[in-house]
Amino acid sequence: MFVTFEGLDGSGKSTQAELLRERLEAAGREVVTAREPGGTPLGEGVRELVLNGTEMTAWAEAALFAAARAELVDRVIAPALERGADVICDRYIDSSLAYQGIARGLGLERVLELNLQATRGLLPDRTFVLLLDPEESAGRVAEPDRIEREGPDFRARVDEAYRRLAELFRERVVAVDAAAPAQETAELIHGQLRDLVR
Ligand code: TYD
Repeated sequence: MFVTFEGLDGSGKSTQAELLRERLEAAGREVVTAREPGGTPLGEGVRELVLNGTEMTAWAEAALFAAARAELVDRVIAPALERGADVICDRYIDSSLAYQGIARGLGLERVLELNLQATRGLLPDRTFVLLLDPEESAGRVAEPDRIEREGPDFRARVDEAYRRLAELFRERVVAVDAAAPAQETAELIHGQLRDLVR
């Protein structure tokens, strides 16, 4: 299965991705993990450019994230799924829908279309959106990157965007209250995967 974690920085995505990996591996499954942007040489280059580079237009930003994603799907995610491994990704398409499509105002449909081309239509089996008060999330981030430095209005728009995505894609996207202790949240997430874990 292909599972992704989404949310604002500081929402605990990486912790939950790690807890799920441990749990699936303990059950004897092969698990491949990745993070976005990154996971391939090109992806790491894009990460540096987008997070620490100069200002860029919103479409340039969206296209760079999509390029990194195309590479990650072809080289890492699709081969792993083909050999029967589980894939857990810290951020994927929904980050672009929330940040570039909705918060930056490029349009959800347009950014979805770009990303469906880039990934050859590969959507996760399930996506967990970790919801936490945006300012509380920001408080947990030690060194904000170029996008995190946008400020409270932008963070509120991203938070709102994620809530909308959970409403729009009910079959795939599950909103999770990330204010609970990590182990409790992990338990809830595992429960939501029962139909996929055989
Ligand atoms: P992330 O890797 O979660 O940051 P960190 O390493 O600090 O935990 O994400 C980096 C930033 O990139 C984050 O602010 C969200 C943003 N982002 C987008 O705007 N669109 C995207 O498609 C992706 C993958 C990330």
